[in-house]
Amino acid sequence: MTLMPYDDRDGFIWFDGRLVPWREAKLHVLTHALHYASCVFEGERIYKGQVFKLTEHSQRLWDSGQILGFDLPCSVAEVDEATRRTVAANGLVEGYVRPIAWRGAEQLGVSAQQTRIHLAIATFPWGSYFPAELRKRGIRLTFAKWKRPHPETAPTKSKASGLYMICTMSKHAAEAEGYNDALMLDWRGQIAESTGANIFLVIDGALHTPTPDCFLDGITRRTFMELARRRGIKVVERAIMPEELGRAQEVFLTGTAAEITPVGEIDQYRFTPGEITRVLTADFDQLIGRVPASAAAE
Ligand SMILES: Cc1ncc(COP(=O)(O)O)c(C=O)c1O
Repeated sequence: MTLMPYDDRDGFIWFDGRLVPWREAKLHVLTHALHYASCVFEGERIYKGQVFKLTEHSQRLWDSGQILGFDLPCSVAEVDEATRRTVAANGLVEGYVRPIAWRGAEQLGVSAQQTRIHLAIATFPWGSYFPAELRKRGIRLTFAKWKRPHPETAPTKSKASGLYMICTMSKHAAEAEGYNDALMLDWRGQIAESTGANIFLVIDGALHTPTPDCFLDGITRRTFMELARRRGIKVVERAIMPEELGRAQEVFLTGTAAEITPVGEIDQYRFTPGEITRVLTADFDQLIGRVPASAAAE
């Protein structure tokens, strides 16, 4: 796989209030966020030139910072505007947006009251998160060794970079065994989410999804719950134990990166993407203005 390094590209990145040439968006090695994970971020997708649910993402970035004890250097409306300007400056019609806010290098140590809060927004082309050829039969997951922490152990409502340490470790371990990703349980042993997306189970025609009380309540997750309700599909948010995967006919992941991704297997459990996955995929494609693959082929 040829990698295109993220620090060596053409284009512009929003950096502390202005657009700077891509390669100049740099940090000092003694930046607090790098040492102590005092950093929050977002992941957004651009469809037809518009950022999907932009204000919800900008608001979540703000809220994530607040949970970590800091204010962003600008308002939610200003983050929205900066995002639009960055997307326009890079001429992107389809792609991904990565806003990030962090404590700077003014002070280094556990106490960092004098640090400045910085904000950057980068945007770049990005295709399917999981191999597109697996869309039909579904991706392969294994259970992660790491558990999502108790909300009194970590700031689980924040999309904070520190919470992703166990995600990278879990995903690497899964990939080393030939899987596409890992399914994380929480500290109680209940199903939580994958390393970067929420999970849904179809059990006898109803859609079941874990209650997000210690992991990210995804914006895409809420979108799919709404799409399902509009279709008259019953949506059940509850604690789900891993053994219940044995009763699920269909399973899929949702997230900004994953969009909707069918799951074909989780360790010993097998699923077949079916009617509910199909209609919800079509409804989502319609919502974002994408021509469904089947229609495009006709
Ligand atoms: C750990 C994790 N869970 C869930 C999600 C899905 O959230 P959203 O739909 O808001 O992108 C993401 C993606 O941001 C994530 O990183």
